Amino acid sequence: MYFQLNHDRAFGTFPLKGDALSDALNMALDVGYRAIDTAQMYQNEADIGAVLSMSGLAREDIFITSKVPVEQYSDKTFCASVEKSLEALQIDCLDVLLLHWPPADGAIEKPLELLLEAQQSGLCTHVGVSNFTAEMLRRTTALVDVPIVTNQVEFHPLLNQETLMNAASETGIPLSSYCSVARGAVFRQPLFEQLANDYNVTPGQIVLRWILQKGVSVNTMSTNKRNIAANFALQHFALSHVDMARIDQLTHHNVRIVDKHLVPWAPEWDV
Ligand SMILES: NC(=O)c1ccc[n+]([C@@H]2O[C@H](COP(=O)([O-])OP(=O)(O)OC[C@H]3O[C@@H](n4cnc5c(N)ncnc54)[C@H](OP(=O)(O)O)[C@@H]3O)[C@@H](O)[C@H]2O)c1
Repeated sequence: MYFQLNHDRAFGTFPLKGDALSDALNMALDVGYRAIDTAQMYQNEADIGAVLSMSGLAREDIFITSKVPVEQYSDKTFCASVEKSLEALQIDCLDVLLLHWPPADGAIEKPLELLLEAQQSGLCTHVGVSNFTAEMLRRTTALVDVPIVTNQVEFHPLLNQETLMNAASETGIPLSSYCSVARGAVFRQPLFEQLANDYNVTPGQIVLRWILQKGVSVNTMSTNKRNIAANFALQHFALSHVDMARIDQLTHHNVRIVDKHLVPWAPEWDV
């Protein structure tokens, strides 16, 4: 999931649970995914724990990210909620723990303090954030002196995230993507089919390769074996500068999937 930690592609698990989760995650592990993205809000940590314990894979070969929801941002509940995540996942320590959302009032100081406390207590190896704006990234670097390994955000070719990318380079907090194929909306653009023919890959591989070449690590979810395999196989080709620029042109569409209509506490996004 994170370039610097040798995980540039993770398997996302929202909104999968039960058999759908086990089927998809087993297919993902079969094709080679070793990084998994979950969250307390997804209510699937126990299902993931069950699949991993049956997989025969060693703990050190799996890289797990989970996230704490806003309602747990208090002294009393934060670390206790992470302990529940660990129990459900059947592990002792998360590889990465993220704040799932900034609080609605934008006061990130306390949640960041709680996040570091969880890290110092040995509940996670690395820490990060999600859905932070450029301004919040700047405040975060001023407040925190350990590496923030990612800001997980909506990132796909139909959304202009230049302001956030600039803040990522300025602060050294790298981005990772969610809604990487805009939940399928990207495929309405004929350019991806054209480029897929030119490079002899799938339209999805073109989209995800564009994300990687923007310097953003990728989270994708799929329940379809062919899509899962294709989404993982991104290293055997590279998009030319010209084709990267052709895809860049699509970002003016400004399609945002996860917004206040879905998540009322979402911040005012960067434009
Ligand atoms: N931090 C946050 O606030 C946040 C918010 C949302 C999501 N996430 C995380 O990010 C992960 C990915 O985001 P997402 O699942 O919301 O969006 P996504 O990856 O853009 O969309 C998933 C949908 O796209 C389809 N799809 C995937 N690969 C495809 C391909 N190669 N060709 C055609 N269709 C394809 C899948 O259908 P099929 O099953 O038919 O392939 C699935 O319905 C989530 O699972 C979750 O772990 C985090």
